[in-house]
Amino acid sequence: MSTTAVRHFLRDDDLSPAEQRAVLELGLAFREDRYVRSPLRGPQAVAVIFDKPSTRTRVSFSAGIAELGGYPLVIDAQSSQLGRGESVADTARVLDRQCSAIVWRTFGQDRLEEMAAYSSVPVVNALTDAFHPCQILADLLTVAQLRGGVDAIAGQTLAYVGDAANNMAASYMVGGATAGMHVRVGGPQGYLPAADVVARAQEIAAETGGSVTVVTDAADAVSGADVVVTDTWISMGDEASAEERARPFVPFQVDDALLAHAADDAIVLHCLPAYRGKEITAEVIDGPRSAVWDEAENRLHAQKALLTWLLEESA
Ligand code: CP
Ligand code: NVA
Repeated sequence: MSTTAVRHFLRDDDLSPAEQRAVLELGLAFREDRYVRSPLRGPQAVAVIFDKPSTRTRVSFSAGIAELGGYPLVIDAQSSQLGRGESVADTARVLDRQCSAIVWRTFGQDRLEEMAAYSSVPVVNALTDAFHPCQILADLLTVAQLRGGVDAIAGQTLAYVGDAANNMAASYMVGGATAGMHVRVGGPQGYLPAADVVARAQEIAAETGGSVTVVTDAADAVSGADVVVTDTWISMGDEASAEERARPFVPFQVDDALLAHAADDAIVLHCLPAYRGKEITAEVIDGPRSAVWDEAENRLHAQKALLTWLLEESA
């Protein structure tokens, strides 16, 4: 019996800087050759569970698990017993006897942590209210792809503008700091990141040579940035506050005028789905600086690398 501790990916800092780097290098290898490694030889199932809607995460994990030689078992939580109140712990104890890994998109981070506490196989965060770490791996892979390799990520300035209190902002801060980036987050008062997340990201940045700053002016955030990113102003679960969210974010829209403050060769990312005319204009997302389709493709490569790494480390 193995004595190796099982590795989970619940938040961005579950990978050390060196481990994140190894995953990104493997992600680039998968970009070059989709079948460079197949750790799930044989029909090994991976449970991919959704408490919230998804297009990219569902498809990229499904395609990726199949390409790794496994079988994606996509479960709509509402149609499972989880949706009728079966405990997370009991669900973990059933799934880990039959699946090689558990990928879960849910609400509270505490639910994911409970799944991991009771699972003997890797648990992966496919988005919670708090973090979306798989998306940041894909975004970092996109920066590596477009800037000449994983070595080129550290030192780049990434500006995130919009809802700075949401899961994407948190993951950009923690995951970007892990990669040694200078992360600037800009949002309106009332929609700024939690102090503990900023503190943790700054602690990591102090080790990696990066930095993390929070500002309330969009131009300040974007000034000289190499990578400009945004996200929806109304995340899944925020629908009830859609009306009060309509106005405060308007100065943070990524349009050509805001982008003029960024570096001349800045690239624009967006995790998608995008709402043109809200957080980003059609001219920008469909324009020459946008790398959002590479970014969406990179979900596949990054997650294959992540699953491979977690399974090999946990073996
Ligand atoms: N970016 C992202 O996670 O997209 P989905 O919600 O479609 O999975
Ligand atoms: N912040 C968004 C990301 C969607 C991929 C949400 O949580 O809905």
